[in-house]
Amino acid sequence: MTAPCIYGEGINFSEDNMKSPRAYFAPLALGAPAPLREMPARVERMIHFVPPHNDKLRARVGELIGSVDVILGNLEDAVPVDAKIAARQGFIAMARDNDFGATGLWTRVNALNSPWLLDDITEIVAAVGDKLDVIMLPKVEGAWDIHYLDQLLAQLEARHHLAKPILIHAILETAEGVNNVVDIARASPRMQGMSLGPADLAASRAMKTTRVGGGHPDYRVLADSAGTEPRAHYQQDLWHYTIAKMVDACAAQGIKPFYGPFGDFSDLAACEVQFRNAFLMGCAGAWTLHPSQIAIAKRVFSPDPAEVAFARRILAAMPDGSGAVMIDGKMQDDATWKQAKVMIDLADEVARRDPDLARLYQPA
Ligand code: GLV
Ligand code: MG
Repeated sequence: MTAPCIYGEGINFSEDNMKSPRAYFAPLALGAPAPLREMPARVERMIHFVPPHNDKLRARVGELIGSVDVILGNLEDAVPVDAKIAARQGFIAMARDNDFGATGLWTRVNALNSPWLLDDITEIVAAVGDKLDVIMLPKVEGAWDIHYLDQLLAQLEARHHLAKPILIHAILETAEGVNNVVDIARASPRMQGMSLGPADLAASRAMKTTRVGGGHPDYRVLADSAGTEPRAHYQQDLWHYTIAKMVDACAAQGIKPFYGPFGDFSDLAACEVQFRNAFLMGCAGAWTLHPSQIAIAKRVFSPDPAEVAFARRILAAMPDGSGAVMIDGKMQDDATWKQAKVMIDLADEVARRDPDLARLYQPA
């Protein structure tokens, strides 16, 4: 099923070096399926990482399917070099052995400059390309990286007679990638979305941190001195600028932005705040690297039932979406109607996936 993505409308063809609009949606290989014109409307509140070389964790994938929106087999960083091939084979086995139903099946492949990428792609598409929804590509630097994978996937889809195109999700985790984020977002109709990769990005930018996402106690502003010590200080969000830039690039192209990993599994409160900031800024979901983060992502990336109820009141008060009304002392107009519509469309999508939330989102 396809439906317009809530994150934007249409494709922006304004760059001079873009293909012509007609060519943009043509298959890149004879016999490859036609590129999608709209992203599938899917709820992707959490992309749950599984290490496929770990037999014990792989065996639990069947139980996970009902409790997460996306299961991702990770082949890249965190997989030891001597387990790279086992991870690829483990991913193929887990894709074959399970019925994923409406739960997304993704893999994070190794980087384009690694010795494993070509076999990751060719072996996985040959074996389970018909079950694979999205390939997450790490360390994307520019549109050229997406063009390479786009063409390769079209050739493999044609060779293996696949009926539906495999989508691409880029990780934004190098300074060069952040500079080119708009070009990456519109590089191909295969682009499903993008995730912030704060750990690699910190290294690429020479940030002086050793964390995987989240805040830092030394990144702050100090209140003016009132003659008394200690002076108040306020921690700032190291990732605000990049998330905002990513959200704009994605929304303008009708694809989805995601917050990536939060590495401190002992600090669930900080994880929740980081995820919520991303949600409020426009992100669709985040990575969950530990089972304790699944419930957080579900809570944060599903709209608050009270906000949904208020949004319904706005839509009901302005049936044609125009004019101005007051509700509880707050002005509503065409623009707040559109915000309410974003909220209701997301609540409807979440309700289709989650019966408990469906009850909470019912009109009063
Ligand atoms: C994720 O891959 C990151 O580098 O943060
Ligand atoms: Mg990374």
